[in-house]
Amino acid sequence: VKIRKPFLIANWKMHKTLGEAESFCRDFLPRVKDGGRVDIAICPPFTCLFHVKSFLASSPVKLGAQNMFWEEKGAYTGEVSPVMLVDAGCELVIIGHSERRIILGETDAMINCKVKAALQYGLLPVLCVGETLKERQEKKAKEVVRKQLQEALEGVEKTENLVIAYEPVWAIGSGLNASPEDAEEIASFIRGLLADWWDREISSRLRILYGGSVKPENISLFMQKENIDGALVGGASLDPYSFAEIVRLSV
Ligand code: G3P
Repeated sequence: VKIRKPFLIANWKMHKTLGEAESFCRDFLPRVKDGGRVDIAICPPFTCLFHVKSFLASSPVKLGAQNMFWEEKGAYTGEVSPVMLVDAGCELVIIGHSERRIILGETDAMINCKVKAALQYGLLPVLCVGETLKERQEKKAKEVVRKQLQEALEGVEKTENLVIAYEPVWAIGSGLNASPEDAEEIASFIRGLLADWWDREISSRLRILYGGSVKPENISLFMQKENIDGALVGGASLDPYSFAEIVRLSV
């Protein structure tokens, strides 16, 4: 039995219209009535947030966003603020996903601003870190993860309101998941860093998730690992039955 409550988060990325989101909710929610043993969240695109929230109202499933800007309002064309996310019903926000780092040029400094803003406005930051294939082959995975974490958390007071997702870039959407042993090694490394920087007590309570080609067939292998407390699921979270199955197999 885990000391930390498992947390399963669906990251829909740039998928689903309003109608598709609605039909997911209709199929998924009746399958996850019991919110006692696991925390569940869905992170739809911005355009679906408010609509999805209307379905989640009477369920234990939380709503999250996939990104945000760090200012409350202003001349930032195309951006969405933490206040707007809270207003739309979000409780959490994914920050620093590798697709944003790599495709959109998000830097560690921007990610640091976002983590601080999420905490300031009462959103739970789900901070993503992870190395590329080249970095792994060069045996730099830990060094990269340490730097990403250190810069993202620069000036952040120790807090329990934080989830870390370890997502090795090469495992995302590739069908090639990290081995549960490799994922555990980095998860335990991350917990150790947080124990050093903050304290052991807080670090032992923070949830560290694995992400990268998680599916019903492999979720329980990850959940058996001591330092892995759940998963951030992309592709397999688009289908209500497979995401419900992942949730079921995670406890
Ligand atoms: O944030 C989740 C993610 O990047 C993993 O995607 O499709 O490999 O589950 P996927």
